[in-house]
Amino acid sequence: MADNKDTKGKAPANQTSESGSSPKPYSIGDKLTPKMAESLLENNPALKNEMAGLGKDKTAEALRKMDIADLLTGLAVGGKNQKDMASYKFWQTQPVPRFDETGSEPSATGGPIKMIDPEKVSKEPDALVEGFEWATLDLTNEVELQELWDLLTYHYVEDDNAMFRFRYSKAFLHWALMSPGWKKEWHVGVRATKSKKLVASICGVPTELRVRGQKIKVTEINFLCIHKKLRSKRLTPVLIKEITRRCYLNGIYQAIYTAGVVLPTPVSSCRYYHRPLDWLKLYEVGFSPLPHGSTKARQITKNHLPSNTSSPGLRPMELKDVDAVQDLLERYLRRFDMNQAFTKDEVKHWLVHRDNDEQEQVVWSYVVEDPETHKITDFFSFYSLASTVIQHPKHKDVCAAYLYYYATETAFQEDMKTLKDRLQMLMNDALILAKKARFDVFNALTLHDNPLFLEALKFGAGDGQLHFYLYNYRTAPIPGGVNEKNLPDEKQMGGVGVVML
Ligand SMILES: CC(C)(COP(=O)(O)OP(=O)(O)OC[C@H]1O[C@@H](n2cnc3c(N)ncnc32)[C@H](O)[C@@H]1OP(=O)(O)O)[C@@H](O)C(=O)NCCC(=O)NCCS
Repeated sequence: MADNKDTKGKAPANQTSESGSSPKPYSIGDKLTPKMAESLLENNPALKNEMAGLGKDKTAEALRKMDIADLLTGLAVGGKNQKDMASYKFWQTQPVPRFDETGSEPSATGGPIKMIDPEKVSKEPDALVEGFEWATLDLTNEVELQELWDLLTYHYVEDDNAMFRFRYSKAFLHWALMSPGWKKEWHVGVRATKSKKLVASICGVPTELRVRGQKIKVTEINFLCIHKKLRSKRLTPVLIKEITRRCYLNGIYQAIYTAGVVLPTPVSSCRYYHRPLDWLKLYEVGFSPLPHGSTKARQITKNHLPSNTSSPGLRPMELKDVDAVQDLLERYLRRFDMNQAFTKDEVKHWLVHRDNDEQEQVVWSYVVEDPETHKITDFFSFYSLASTVIQHPKHKDVCAAYLYYYATETAFQEDMKTLKDRLQMLMNDALILAKKARFDVFNALTLHDNPLFLEALKFGAGDGQLHFYLYNYRTAPIPGGVNEKNLPDEKQMGGVGVVML
């Protein structure tokens, strides 16, 4: 990638937990002393497990061949490209918490950072540099939808090694950007004045969050993208200021957004996990490594899934389930410090796929209906987001299913073991259904109650970190489901209850 600091953590990031076969660009080489190797392993139990039984010499050799990032992602939660506050020339001017706020100050109890007087909000956008003009995208218009799709398909998020780039489908863009209450003015573009070519975007949709019990109206910001030829020209701050202005004019003074880069200041940070469904394809495209000492056949067997689901009463969610799912989801999500508040309309929009839709399917949702009481006791969902495999002779794309919202009545019992067993059964069924729907990999973050099943269901740690940010809102840090070693930890659950696309 031209500028790899801009990778979004949700990116088509590689799996790291099974690393170790081939030398990578930034390998440690001969600089690793045995003492350093020992201390690295001490700090990275997941890696230590993998190396168990290799013997000292072979372990040192395997470590020497590994990517520094592979080793370090097991160690530090933040850090990726973090600069000191003074270097954030733009962000230090914005109503966001500073890195040096400890979270224990009285001001950190929660609330807006700056009061906005709507009268003082400019009615006009800031001028763009000569040769460019502002645009409002009309996504109901097929031509404009195609323009946004083109921009994102060739210029949006790539992984650090420029092997994969997100490829959101047009149906996905409709789904993500035309949710209940959506506003055309929040689909912001920049065009070249002469050619009218779309060269940058930033979009938002309205929603409501609950942050430590406080309900706040926010804009969910997404699809910040600048044409590769216009990078590093400080266009990002201009785009952010413009969408902020348009939100302020609509009476929305807070926003939520995610990024793989560290900006001032994440409210929470989660880690990506990946469960191979078609291991061989993932290996061939360079996504999943062949762990040291394993074979392809062994990896395929390890990732094999049964052909049938096991939860009694499991069936695709239908329109008639909206009320029951909304009730269950709301109760389930309130258990998290920061969560999304769902109306029935939103549940319908975000979770129900209608078979008569002409567009390709984006979201898959399933409910468990108790065969006797007919009560909906559980539900889960995942969405489809492919990545282009850049310049590969055999494979054009990787089809990824992303774990979306889920909820279960077992969450309300005192006993964590019941919840854990139930989630392991439900999520194993989700994997089976995603495999049947021909997905290659199933991705999940460490948010919700995910630390209860990720490792048990053979998800591998990714090198992607997803940082959550709130604009113009301060609250104490929220746990992201990982511990100080960046590994899933049940004691760090209960923080993030919102999934960003
Ligand atoms: C992310 C992207 C828009 C940044 O553009 P750029 O040309 O590198 O950066 P610009 O010169 O326009 O702006 C730099 C400023 O934007 C900030 N910035 C960079 N990436 C950012 C992000 N993802 N979110 C918010 N701010 C970001 C920088 O920190 C810097 O501000 P600072 O001086 O306060 O540190 C561009 O690299 C891109 O389109 N990448 C591919 C898509 C992508 O990663 N989108 C972001 C998804 S979260």
